[in-house]
Amino acid sequence: MEIRPLRDGDVPQLFELAQTIVKDGTTYVFEDANDFVSAFLRGHAFVAVDGDELLGAYYFRANQPGRGAHVANASFAVTEAARNQGVGRALGEHAIEAARERGFRAMQFNLVVATNESAIALWQKLGFEIAGTLPGSFHHETDGYVDAHVMYRALID
Ligand SMILES: CC(C)(COP(=O)(O)OP(=O)(O)OC[C@H]1O[C@@H](n2cnc3c(N)ncnc32)[C@H](O)[C@@H]1OP(=O)(O)O)[C@@H](O)C(=O)NCCC(=O)NCCS
Repeated sequence: MEIRPLRDGDVPQLFELAQTIVKDGTTYVFEDANDFVSAFLRGHAFVAVDGDELLGAYYFRANQPGRGAHVANASFAVTEAARNQGVGRALGEHAIEAARERGFRAMQFNLVVATNESAIALWQKLGFEIAGTLPGSFHHETDGYVDAHVMYRALID
């Protein structure tokens, strides 16, 4: 597996991945795969690949403008076929390093769905803490209105 910057040629597979996330409706707010792909194209985006096969992707960007611009926001997705094999962890570790290299002082996830146990467990292993919980802030495909966490970690000592 290699992690490298997103290229134009990755977009069709990224779109497919975005479609599975949108269809699933349990982890991200997006209802249109194009909106998820656009978010990648606006950010600093990286992909995990095995040859020509896209395994996963992430992007980061400033979470806020101006006086909040030193905090990065990031989003991650791994294809269903590639999950539970360490791709998410590798992307998470890469994101922490890439954001740190760009001078970000912290990383914040704005909406980690409280039912998304594997994601929460992974982010906690990578040093993120639940900063707060927003009651009913996510409309889950099967569970209805569920809580979501803001998760945060410093990137500087
Ligand atoms: C969340 C996601 C990115 C994780 O990617 P992944 O490639 O499956 O993750 P990994 O294989 O690297 O596993 C991560 C770790 O979490 C652990 N884990 C997984 N599910 C767990 C659970 N229910 N409880 C505790 N630990 C769990 C794994 O054992 C692994 O630990 P390790 O690295 O110490 O061995 C992936 O499932 C995904 O894309 N989900 C859909 C989109 C999404 O939820 N994105 C994140 C939104 S916040």
